[in-house]
Amino acid sequence: MPAIFGKAPGKVILFGEHAVVYNRPAIAVPINDVNAKVTVVANPRLSPGQVNVYAPDIGLEATVGNLPENDPIAKAIQLTKEATKIKMIPACNLRITSTIPVASGLGSGAAVTVAIMRALSDFIGEPLSDSQISALTYEVEKIHHGTPSGIDNTVITFNKPVYFVKGQPVVLLKLKSTFTLVIGDTGDRSPTKVAVGDVRKAWERMPQRYESFFDQIGAIAKNAREALETGEWVRLGKLMDANHTLLQKLNVSSAKLDRLVAVARDAGALGAKLSGGGRGGNMIALVPQEAAKSVAESLREEGAAHTLVTQVGERI
Ligand code: PMV
Repeated sequence: MPAIFGKAPGKVILFGEHAVVYNRPAIAVPINDVNAKVTVVANPRLSPGQVNVYAPDIGLEATVGNLPENDPIAKAIQLTKEATKIKMIPACNLRITSTIPVASGLGSGAAVTVAIMRALSDFIGEPLSDSQISALTYEVEKIHHGTPSGIDNTVITFNKPVYFVKGQPVVLLKLKSTFTLVIGDTGDRSPTKVAVGDVRKAWERMPQRYESFFDQIGAIAKNAREALETGEWVRLGKLMDANHTLLQKLNVSSAKLDRLVAVARDAGALGAKLSGGGRGGNMIALVPQEAAKSVAESLREEGAAHTLVTQVGERI
């Protein structure tokens, strides 16, 4: 039997992180310059039903049965088995590699899960639909995130720009044209779960103040949808700046994120903001294509650990 492959892209949230947990709209796009890949190969030398997992990037080599039950990889395999209704997965080796930096807001956890489910359900001979994979990935995301909104599993599974409201059918966005983003990594790893938990505590203490922030962020996401559909890039940049200010008020930015955002603007970006859970991880800057290189250079001079220039909306 030949090897079966599955893959899934990274993602960035353009607008609406955190407020999306409180049912406001958010916008996310896939980033295909980085991805997670899974290969499944039958291995008749193993005992029946045995699945061996290799993830060299994180030094993991284990039989699934020996992983803790709430391990995200074990959970992804278990959920795939249940959804395909197979009694026993044919003995196989499952190899995971990923170029998506972990815990930095680029969706590495969700991408690994989606790639596992794609490859394994294909291998079993019962390929799961995108809607099934997205819903199952959401279940695995709960291990990483606690109370995820569902935006990561959605944008990564469908691999299209999405306008997302929790609990509502997915809206795939039609961009007027492609545009250029520079992604700058602070190099600081910050678990989304902690930032989301802190926002929740603050919201419980000051509900009116936080509801008002969430409303303002939701209004920005709505406006941004229009700007993306009409190709008003200057307007989109200003909306990113306004979104960043509100994220600062939610207390999820950091001194380094703020510095990188400011430097990007000074170097010619149309707008910039943190992206994802915040406190660390990545910021994004919307740039005229010709300014991409110099914005990326300025970010690295200011201490960004990595930069990535990406064309959003390119055919994949
Ligand atoms: O840190 P990330 O990129 O996984 O994004 C988290 C986005 C939040 O809105 C903060 C949480 C969520 O579940 O939507």
